Amino acid sequence: MASQRLALLDAVCAAPKAELHVHIEGTLEPELAFALARRNGVTLRWRSSAELRAAYAFDSLQSFLDLYYAGCDVLRTEQDFFDLAWAYFQRAASDRVVRAEVFFDPQSHTARGVGFDVFMPGLLRAVARAQQQLGLSAAYILCLLRHLSEDDGIATLQAAQPWAQHFIGLGLDSSERGNPPEKFARLYAQARAQGLRLVAHAGEEGPAAYVRDALDLLGAERIDHGVHAADDPALVRRLAGQGIALTVCPLSNVKLCVFPDMAAHNLPALLHAGVKVMVNSDDPAYFGGYVNANYQALLAAHPELDSADAYRLLRNSLEASFAPAGRIAAWVGKLDAHWRAQGLDAG
Ligand code: HPA
Ligand code: ZN
Repeated sequence: MASQRLALLDAVCAAPKAELHVHIEGTLEPELAFALARRNGVTLRWRSSAELRAAYAFDSLQSFLDLYYAGCDVLRTEQDFFDLAWAYFQRAASDRVVRAEVFFDPQSHTARGVGFDVFMPGLLRAVARAQQQLGLSAAYILCLLRHLSEDDGIATLQAAQPWAQHFIGLGLDSSERGNPPEKFARLYAQARAQGLRLVAHAGEEGPAAYVRDALDLLGAERIDHGVHAADDPALVRRLAGQGIALTVCPLSNVKLCVFPDMAAHNLPALLHAGVKVMVNSDDPAYFGGYVNANYQALLAAHPELDSADAYRLLRNSLEASFAPAGRIAAWVGKLDAHWRAQGLDAG
């Protein structure tokens, strides 16, 4: 039995998959943060990368965000953003990610005087190299900070216009409680008119009503986290019936105390209720691992998840991506071939 479980874990790690919820700023490893601080003459509050890593003990979303925004200060030049994104793409490819849809938070940089003309070229150079050297398809989602005003978000979307063809969608992150979806209805209407795909963080710390409002008031096509939707059975039925994806991040949810431990995580219940969930890493440098570490931690704590469930999670990740339908079909074909070659049940 134990060896069968290990074989399933290996098969999941080696399977083609998409990552749809990862913040590029959340992939800043302490070692890179210190290297960039040295390069840019920035003084950090911590004496070493080990000391910084030891500070990664959080009791809430806000306690994490305070550190995450502080970390952004070392990102100053085009090369810094390239180095950050290229490091992530290499790690993602080694986890067999074939498609990554990556958030970036422009306001975390523009507020420090680092503009689109600095970070976009670096981020885009990394995407081009990921495609060429790793065969990894990647795209960016412009993510706005919900603790700031809607007008600030609208101004940021405006400032992004020269780069509009280089991102596929709009998202909403940062402090959820007290910053409900309705605050951003005008902004999302503008983004929709521009043809952007729409996603929003909702139901991470906030209530199920925020998930419903992200769908109904913002037109979100995919919900980031969304785990509190489980508190509303009618909403769960709607998510399942409409095939609306939740980009769930197991290690993040445990690290930020959304669940007391991995065994208490509700991803299996959502999956078994027919909701299109999959596994993502969110801010892997801060939460203890990249996407495969998330799959491993989830499967280790939930022996009730079988090979058909694992297949469904992987397939959901590919199907919920915003890549062209032909690309998705090709990746699903590769997943099917891999699963068959391992002799595993796909359900
Ligand atoms: N939630 C809200 N804001 C964030 C997150 C998250 O998981 N990661 C980075 N910013
Ligand atoms: Zn997130």
